[in-house]
Amino acid sequence: MTTSHGLPNAHTLSDADASVLQIWGKHPLKGHVKISGAKNSALTIIAAALLCPEDCRIRNVPNLVDVKRMGQILAALGVKIEHHGDVLDINASTISHSKAPYELVSQLRASFFIIGPLLARLGVARIPLPGGCTIGARPVDLHVRGLQAMGADVQIEHGIVHAYVTGSQRRLKGAKIYLDYPSVGATETIMMAATLAEGETTIENAAQEPEVVDLANFCRAMGARIRGAGTNTITIAGVPRLHSTDYTINPDRIEAGTFLVAGAITHSEISLSPVVPEHLTAVIAKLQETGAQIVTEAPDRLCIIPGDTIKATDIETLPYPGFPTDMQAQFMALLTLSEGNSLITETVFENRMRHVAELNRMGADIRIKGNHALIRGVSMLSGAPVIATDLRASAALVLAGLAANGKTVIQCLHHLDRGYEQLEVKLLSLGAVLERVPAGADAGSAGLTSYSVLSEKD
Ligand code: EPU
Repeated sequence: MTTSHGLPNAHTLSDADASVLQIWGKHPLKGHVKISGAKNSALTIIAAALLCPEDCRIRNVPNLVDVKRMGQILAALGVKIEHHGDVLDINASTISHSKAPYELVSQLRASFFIIGPLLARLGVARIPLPGGCTIGARPVDLHVRGLQAMGADVQIEHGIVHAYVTGSQRRLKGAKIYLDYPSVGATETIMMAATLAEGETTIENAAQEPEVVDLANFCRAMGARIRGAGTNTITIAGVPRLHSTDYTINPDRIEAGTFLVAGAITHSEISLSPVVPEHLTAVIAKLQETGAQIVTEAPDRLCIIPGDTIKATDIETLPYPGFPTDMQAQFMALLTLSEGNSLITETVFENRMRHVAELNRMGADIRIKGNHALIRGVSMLSGAPVIATDLRASAALVLAGLAANGKTVIQCLHHLDRGYEQLEVKLLSLGAVLERVPAGADAGSAGLTSYSVLSEKD
């Protein structure tokens, strides 16, 4: 829980924060991991189900805290939603509220994505501003400007975005929209809103991430007319109504990338499926530069064969198809153990290097200058008590812990639980030695347990 300034509220510890993850490093991993459905696809696809006045079945939905929160937001709008295993059934034939509750929006930034579908369906939406988060300020100006270009009247009062469509039909109008930056969220908001608009919408400089394509495919399965998703120009011809569908979400490329790095950092052979190898092109290229081999064992199955040593390399995060910011922290953990110096440049988010201080506590040698991190490879990391500061930073600390000498104790696990389904179970099945225990039960975290919960909303 955070204040409007992104500062932690006092001592509101969730169950995940009352626990710590202990990892005993240097145990080789081996075997196969099943990759879950993509978190960031699931979050927007659940929002997009609001566009449809009939039943929607969504499959391969990861069981994650963020996904549950998104479901709660839809339920608060009066939508029927049922979860059975990895299947989510949503029926938004009735939407009884156009205002999303602040308590839920403030916990999950992606909940802002319901603004487009609500406006398209009801002609009105009232969504609290999600605010900044631990990785950056993350404004929503591009979302808002896109909706305004489509005829919405948008006012921000008392921290709430009020969006209305005037006119007898309360229908948005197609528009040509150029995005100053290929924002994933803004592309998704505009694309969803445009599916039910009158006329054609073109998004220039659109985000090309696989999650945008997944969302477009879901909307198309409901009858939307979308072309060009996956390129930098997306065209949406509005239709009056969408229909029922049954859709399966893509595998999570960031979870897959994280397990590939787990193989590289522990010098272990790990295979993973299902994956879409093309979604991992940049990650695979960088792993190869560090000396690992990535073998395509089947069209949806990859195997990492680690090198004898880890070679240094430089990385710059960029919008897709560039190297993903969501893999930056994990690669930083890997490069701490490389032979030589590496430079990582983060260009997508302005505050996404908070794992550096924690990795340095484990013996890494990393210096930050602006948005650059200079990593001087060291011969070993040593286990230490550390604090997870955001979702991908948590993953980096787990990876570092797997490779470190001795015991690492990770606090603030609520970040990890937002984005990795059954991470501990999956790692245990590969042979990792780790355990989640109540904070007090672990001597290694003594003295750290009074830290309050850091900001959420990755
Ligand atoms: N931005 C603006 N104005 C806007 C929108 C974005 O200035 O209106 C800026 C942001 O502040 C940021 C940059 O543009 O500096 C990129 O933001 P983008 O909108 O592309 O990201 P997002 O939609 O907020 C999604 C993922 C993130 C992932 C980014 C980039 C979801 C729920 N989140 O965020 O995922 O890092 O795209 O790929 O889809 C994660 O999974 O750990 C995570 C943070």
